[in-house]
Amino acid sequence: MEHYTFEIFSCDQMNEFGLKIASSVPNGVVIGLLGDLGAGKTTLVRGVARGLNIKEVVQSPTFNIMKLYLKGDRPLIHIDAYRLADLNTDIGLDEYIGYETGITMIEWPLFIKDLLPENTLWIEIKSTGETSRHIDVYSEDKTLVEGLK
Ligand SMILES: Nc1ncnc2c1ncn2[C@@H]1O[C@H](COP(=O)(O)OP(=O)(O)O)[C@@H](O)[C@H]1O
Ligand SMILES: [Mg+2]
Repeated sequence: MEHYTFEIFSCDQMNEFGLKIASSVPNGVVIGLLGDLGAGKTTLVRGVARGLNIKEVVQSPTFNIMKLYLKGDRPLIHIDAYRLADLNTDIGLDEYIGYETGITMIEWPLFIKDLLPENTLWIEIKSTGETSRHIDVYSEDKTLVEGLK
């Protein structure tokens, strides 16, 4: 695993990190977002959406499970797997995980761990204060992590 850790101190900086992801992560990549409720996972997805010129409002997909944004520079797939925890049903989500022309970002990814590729780009967010966050980026694919430095 290649790791890259850093600290941020504001929502603005989380947004900037999202812009960086939008400009550097190749198509087909799956991003697993780890962190407690309120850590900033959805906020980061919003930053990525902005970076991809997606104009729609990105909300927590908790009640949709998945939302597909197709009107930006490239597709963004936003999945919240929280409610899939106890659902032993195949709902065809695998079609969208690693969507070949875009980026897939998954909140609560461990609930669908079996569907995630080996080269998943993991982003772990830990709250260290009201607006400060510790971010740990890691993947088996070294180049994905290098691209975000
Ligand atoms: N540096 C930061 N990065 C992200 N969110 C932050 C930050 N500082 C404060 N926040 C606040 O924390 C909350 C994060 O919520 P959200 O992104 O929905 O988290 P999650 O999706 O992980 O549950 C928002 O209210 C946001 O304004
Ligand atoms: Mg969320």
